[in-house]
Amino acid sequence: MKYFIGNWKMFGVPKSINILKKINFFHLKDRNRNKYKIIITPPYTLLETFSKYFKNKKILVGSQNCYQKDHFSSNTAAVSAYMIKSVGAKYTLVGHSDNRSEGDTNEMLKNKVIFALKNNLKVIFCIGENKIEKRSKKTFSVLKNQIIKVLEKKFNKDNIIVAYEPIWSIGTGKIPTKNELKKTILRIKKILKQIYKKKSPAVLYGGSVDGNSVKIFKDIREIDGFLIGGASKSSKKFIDIIKNYYR
Ligand code: PGA
Repeated sequence: MKYFIGNWKMFGVPKSINILKKINFFHLKDRNRNKYKIIITPPYTLLETFSKYFKNKKILVGSQNCYQKDHFSSNTAAVSAYMIKSVGAKYTLVGHSDNRSEGDTNEMLKNKVIFALKNNLKVIFCIGENKIEKRSKKTFSVLKNQIIKVLEKKFNKDNIIVAYEPIWSIGTGKIPTKNELKKTILRIKKILKQIYKKKSPAVLYGGSVDGNSVKIFKDIREIDGFLIGGASKSSKKFIDIIKNYYR
């Protein structure tokens, strides 16, 4: 199973559901539709309406983050996995580099994962090195640290997806080479297999994925799907990614 996950970031109002209706319509007719899942992570404000509208349809809905406490708390602007689940969402991103750079620590991320899983949300756990770390050849040690500080073997690996997003590639149009990316994905899977008894959760790639770059990525069979930012805000661009992937 492959994943095409659209991360809307700070984008969208209620009528933006029309973008997803077009994607859903495409999926209905796509002969490859049984080979992949579509997940969209809109802002919190749209989770309930989108989850309800797509309840018995093929687009799954998730949040972009969740707070590191369970149920209710007195933290202003915080939204818990419990609250996210209660409006029908099925997934949550955890550890996007935007949120790591705003102060999310490994300890906070671990609690986010714990409470997301406890509340039956599947977790899309984001990892990735920055430009300086890449230049100083620290990519693998950074990724390993991000993984082992948060993911525990007691977590159900079937409810975890890992998204590798090199920070220098997010929104920049810069992408890793095919060789480099294949090596990194294999390294990540190796680390995950050490935690999860020889079975790695799905590992996705994210960072400037569009209808063009996907033509390169599709040759790397070890990639289980994509986390798509900018190109997920347009139905045409998002559909082009899926079309070109299976072409
Ligand atoms: P991008 O963003 O596709 O716009 O590079 C990816 C992400 O931040 O998830």
